[in-house]
Amino acid sequence: MKTVLALETSCDETAVAIVRDRTVLSSVVASQIDIHRRYGGVVPEVASRAHVENLGAVIETAFQQADAGWSDIDGVAATCAPGLVGALMVGVTAGKTLAMLHDKPFLGIHHLEGHIYASYLSQPNLQPPFLCLLVSGGHTSLIHVKDCGDYVTLGKTRDDAAGEAFDKVARLLDLGYPGGPVIDQLATTGDASAFVLPEGNISLPGGGYHPYDSSFSGLKTAVLRLVQSLQMKGVEPLPVADLSASFQATVAKGLTKRAVKCAIDYDLQAIAVGGGVAANSGLRQHLSTAAQAKGLTVLFPPLKYCTDNAAMIGCAAADHLDRGHTSTLALGTRSRMSLMDVMALYES
Ligand code: KG4
Ligand code: ZN
Repeated sequence: MKTVLALETSCDETAVAIVRDRTVLSSVVASQIDIHRRYGGVVPEVASRAHVENLGAVIETAFQQADAGWSDIDGVAATCAPGLVGALMVGVTAGKTLAMLHDKPFLGIHHLEGHIYASYLSQPNLQPPFLCLLVSGGHTSLIHVKDCGDYVTLGKTRDDAAGEAFDKVARLLDLGYPGGPVIDQLATTGDASAFVLPEGNISLPGGGYHPYDSSFSGLKTAVLRLVQSLQMKGVEPLPVADLSASFQATVAKGLTKRAVKCAIDYDLQAIAVGGGVAANSGLRQHLSTAAQAKGLTVLFPPLKYCTDNAAMIGCAAADHLDRGHTSTLALGTRSRMSLMDVMALYES
């Protein structure tokens, strides 16, 4: 049993958690969304500075909420890749410094491995192998989870991530940032069959479609063209609820179709969904219904563990530490890193 202090600063949330194996003792998230909203997206330098300003207090709160002290901590972990390099550097530098000061092992954690581990927080009995549908602001992948640190990417987006598509469509509908939650909310009052949009299939040279890869940039452009044609016809105000519902249903259907096919093809009984878009009610509904019809289990983490948090990072770190995996204090940060290279982060 390992207890880890985990820091997550890869993007716009300053998050700290204390996790014992698959149990969260505390999880604190200081969101920067209000700061970045006025720019319509995350500004990297502003994010790094806010992490520096917030991290100390967030660590202190995490210790208080867990009613824990340094003697309870077996290791210190920080997200080291992928993400905004300046933002990652704040968490990694703080993590390494604390590890050195308190004579604890340090672990760098891959952000996407964290999103996979979010499923263990609500389902402690979950065991690999399973399929993870990872849908966040920066990534959209289908991952065969074989074991801790052992992942194979079976499908991915060829351009925009699913969350990025939500954010871009929200921007062009003038709905603000981040787009996912606003579109999700508006979609509840809209008609999903009002507009037919392309599902973002990837054509194969020999004909047919790639079974697991997707594209969201064409879908975003289709919404843009639709909005332009509605405006040319003088439709005022724009039917934003119907547009949101139609767009959301299209994304949900495409992701569901590919995830269910992938799970069946690879004989995986469970699909664990991770990342901010796992919070989407349309995806939850479509995927749950389709998976149930095929006898598959679907796991959605609670909303607070879908979007960025440090509990998922701590959960991954506790498993690695338990297996004797530790990082050197020379470990750096990387803006991009394949999930298949995770074990390169550890010495043993
Ligand atoms: O996982 P996450 O917090 O950060 C990344 O690692 O990217 O995901 C953030 C993304 C944003 O694009 C946001 O619009 C999207 O998740 N998101 C949603 C919902 N809540 C957050 N997308 C659709 N529906 C939601 N309810
Ligand atoms: Zn994330």
